[in-house]
Amino acid sequence: MNTQVAIIGAGPSGLLLGQLLHNAGIKTVILERQTPEYVLGRIRAGILENGTVELLREAGVSRRMDAEGLIHHGVEFLFADRRIPVPLSELTQGKSVMVYGQTEVTRDLMEARESSGAQTIYGVEQVALHDLKSDKPYVTFVKDGEHCKIECDFVAGCDGFHGVSRQSIPREILREYESIWPFGWLGLLSDTPPVNPELIYAHHERGFVLCSQRSLTRSRYYLQVPLSDKVEQWTDERFWNELKCRLPDELSKKLVTGHSLEKSIAPLRSYVVEPMQFGRMFLVGDAAHIVPPTGAKGLNLAVSDVNYLWRILRQYYHNGRVDLLSQYSQLALNRVWKGERFSWFMTHLLHDFQDKSAFDKKMQEADRQYYLGSRAGLTTIAENYVGLPYERVE
Ligand code: APR
Ligand code: PHB
Repeated sequence: MNTQVAIIGAGPSGLLLGQLLHNAGIKTVILERQTPEYVLGRIRAGILENGTVELLREAGVSRRMDAEGLIHHGVEFLFADRRIPVPLSELTQGKSVMVYGQTEVTRDLMEARESSGAQTIYGVEQVALHDLKSDKPYVTFVKDGEHCKIECDFVAGCDGFHGVSRQSIPREILREYESIWPFGWLGLLSDTPPVNPELIYAHHERGFVLCSQRSLTRSRYYLQVPLSDKVEQWTDERFWNELKCRLPDELSKKLVTGHSLEKSIAPLRSYVVEPMQFGRMFLVGDAAHIVPPTGAKGLNLAVSDVNYLWRILRQYYHNGRVDLLSQYSQLALNRVWKGERFSWFMTHLLHDFQDKSAFDKKMQEADRQYYLGSRAGLTTIAENYVGLPYERVE
């Protein structure tokens, strides 16, 4: 078998990259170890930056997103029972975010891939990458017990945090930067109307709360919980009671509760690997970086990487721009680090840290007073939240 770009992983990164390359007449094969149903079963965040929405449109996969996604012109912060609206559009010359779940983005991309006729092989095992430093890399894998090989020009490592691509870079070349947060997020999805038209990010002495949504009839709520908590300890009733405790009366009275469709605890991690390329292999999305979900940047940073990589590959195939290939890692990382910073900042600002010193707690409080109390502070938050601009590839 041979192709131009072998893509490892059929999450949003691999599928979006595959779609953009396919539309540009560049051949791809996607290898995914799970089934499509398994991939769609993962519940992830649902806030799309401006640039993400535009790239999905450019890829031709935006019909349902444009019909069903909800444009949000603001978010709200809440601390010490004070509600602070952040008028995103007013503070960013008209930019906004879109509420549209990552699961739906993935479903749209899967359907587009299927109707394009481009090849995706699900249920592959033992994927291994070879000769990445040569002009003729290849990928081996096992499918239904049969050993297979794909020869290609490039490999895109879109296989998430636990994938093989990053592990194929020699240890002496990799530099890893990591910070593990001392708490987790307990999330609950329910078919209940959102408690507030806008998302609410709330600091509370019992812990952080996020009131998010998927549609006008489906809500997603999160509570900061100790890492030692198990999801079985959290009945739906306990979850709703704790949520009400952490919201001011006017909101807790309005909160509509219901059965959970999904409930899970996720640890929070900040992680970046450098460089994001090795020879003819490029790392994309969660394979190269993880953010805590507080800034809603996970999917958006994955799309940001795809934006750079597909433009570079298109320039290579259409205009012979070999020189751009070596620029991918730095271009992608410039934006990744800003996304990491914002996610780190939001996580610090809003969570309760039991082991912080009294001084550090005062600093955190002063940060909240400053950033949420001044137009300059809110503008900084707003421009990062809607997404910083992409650099041009030229
Ligand atoms: N071989 C083939 N496929 C693999 C392998 C492997 N060895 N290892 C992992 N995969 C697949 C996974 O099964 C998964 O479907 O790679 C895919 C990676 O998808 P994601 O983890 O969703 O990563 P990515 O596409 O980069 O999407 C980033 O996901 O975690 C969120 O917040 C994150 O929203 C962001 C988005
Ligand atoms: C979500 O809806 O799941 C969500 C929204 C915003 C975030 C994180 C998660 O910052």
